Amino acid sequence: MGSWLEGKTLAKKIKEKVKNDVALYLKQKKEVPGLAAILVGENRASKIYLRTKERNCERLGIHSEILCFPKDIEASLLKAKIEELNSREDVDSILVQLPLPSLFNAPEIIASIHPEKDVDGVHPFNLGNLMMNQEGLKPCTPLGIIELLKSREIPIAGKRVVIIGRSRLVGKPLAAMVTNENGTVTICHSKTENLPQVSSEADILVGAIGRGAFITPEFVKPGAVVVDVGMNNLTDKSKVEQMFGQDEKRLKDLREKGYTLIGDVHPQVIDKAEFLTPVPGGVGPLTVAMLMKNTLEAFKQRRNLA
Ligand code: GUN
Repeated sequence: MGSWLEGKTLAKKIKEKVKNDVALYLKQKKEVPGLAAILVGENRASKIYLRTKERNCERLGIHSEILCFPKDIEASLLKAKIEELNSREDVDSILVQLPLPSLFNAPEIIASIHPEKDVDGVHPFNLGNLMMNQEGLKPCTPLGIIELLKSREIPIAGKRVVIIGRSRLVGKPLAAMVTNENGTVTICHSKTENLPQVSSEADILVGAIGRGAFITPEFVKPGAVVVDVGMNNLTDKSKVEQMFGQDEKRLKDLREKGYTLIGDVHPQVIDKAEFLTPVPGGVGPLTVAMLMKNTLEAFKQRRNLA
């Protein structure tokens, strides 16, 4: 039986430091960092994530605003709005909540964010710097995963790391970060053949494919460290009971919200792994903490502060 590798304590520590630094800069410079988030359309999960980000900003003394646009806004208008934010002195970081509605060319929209304000680290300039192992803003979820592993002294150098998922926010940038840490990386995806065989070679296995409880014990080497990035809503009561038995918290979620949040990793994996990050309470809180930290970094960089 392995242990749960929680992210909450580390996230709290990171946010405490950001909060103290924000207060210090407010005193010294009479300025606070500002985050602008863009939401296009009505994605329910995106709204929930953005509300969490907004609440965290408020607690840390960071100014935040969420700009909401209809799903059929013209791309040129959206880019003009981003340009406006690019030129605003009081906005240090800009994020476009993903996924964008399918009609949009997401890379084109993302490329219109000024790289200095690209708090998600997904602008080609920042991704290029990441590839070259240079300084720059980096995507929050992979940053959080690396911080979590380091905080528990889980070695990456020389280890076999398998990432299931090749998204631009998680899989691909995480592969670059792991490479920069001297890990040996394999990226798997929906077309990978013999996936359980490949993934069970991993010392560190990362699930970021967006399919609830997809990664079952047969995907996992005994004693592996398993990181679950998935955020999936499970609504089927019989499946919830199958997975969690009569877990009071899960059944309460179902009664009150109509779903319970599960990861890409099946909870049974805890019996085979050395560590498994829980969902919720694992990687999620770290993503938000790193967003706060990146916003402060962007604020400092733009003012040439140490
Ligand atoms: N959608 C899900 N997670 C994220 C995130 O960290 N940043 C953005 N921009 N969109 C997301």
